[in-house]
Amino acid sequence: MSTSKLIDGKAASARVLKQVRDEVARLSADGVFPALAVILVGQDPASQVYVRNKILRAEEAGIKSLEYRLSAETSQGELLQLIADLNADNAVNGILLQLPLPEHIEEARALQAIAPGKDVDGFHSENVGGLSQGRDVLTPCTPSGCMQLLEEACGDLSGKHAVVIGRSNIVGKPMAALLLRAHCSVTVVHSRSVDAKALCRQADIVVAAVGRPRMIDASWLKPGAVVIDVGINRIEEDGRSKLVGDVDFNSALPQVSAITPVPGGVGPMTIAILMKNTVTAAVQQAHAQRVSSEAACLSIS
Ligand code: GUN
Repeated sequence: MSTSKLIDGKAASARVLKQVRDEVARLSADGVFPALAVILVGQDPASQVYVRNKILRAEEAGIKSLEYRLSAETSQGELLQLIADLNADNAVNGILLQLPLPEHIEEARALQAIAPGKDVDGFHSENVGGLSQGRDVLTPCTPSGCMQLLEEACGDLSGKHAVVIGRSNIVGKPMAALLLRAHCSVTVVHSRSVDAKALCRQADIVVAAVGRPRMIDASWLKPGAVVIDVGINRIEEDGRSKLVGDVDFNSALPQVSAITPVPGGVGPMTIAILMKNTVTAAVQQAHAQRVSSEAACLSIS
């Protein structure tokens, strides 16, 4: 198997995490100590794994992590109160509310309660709107990680035709906005698309984020396409449990010019970008606090 076509998310994420570690060390010399609060409501097994990994990576990067594991019976009011307390705490720079939430909690309401400047997931409407207007805001971690992998694999993306498969708020929609910001022509393919495969076959870049194991095979791909596989699907095969993407990797490989593997592609980038966003949030908050304390000194003197 040719490995030169592989886009190595593990190596790329290690580079991002190294930059984050270096930046955290520089900031600590200035008295800034980035801190991330991670909230998990309930016992979803996949979420528990993701949260554990986020906390481990934060510790490795020198970012302080505060873990809030709440029972599945936590009321919406209690969750909103915790978020309000974390918003008001100057020692907390980033707040991550792990999704999905139990059904009795309104996801949109909880996400909207997070202060936009601490919204390291980029899910608050102010950050979503800022991204679509091209403002410099905190952007969602998985699509931002995909962009970094694409830019490293392809260089300038300007003028390329990108097809995003899936239209979730977490991946599909922000991915389309980021590709547009990078001057791609963007098509979003979803469950109501007419002839999704024909649309996908026109793409220079395919980002698959549907959550269906191996749905995209070579027949969906233009020769030479670059493929980013966001899917992480657990399947049983040959009597064992495996993680596979939304792309049928073995079928796609001969057809593509580059492709992310699963695991080892997009997954590690998501966490690395979360750390990067936490440091960005800490820097912006430190700057804002400095400006407001200087303004207070000026108004006193
Ligand atoms: N659940 C699955 N992906 C994500 C993510 O990127 N952020 C949060 N907060 N929850 C998730």
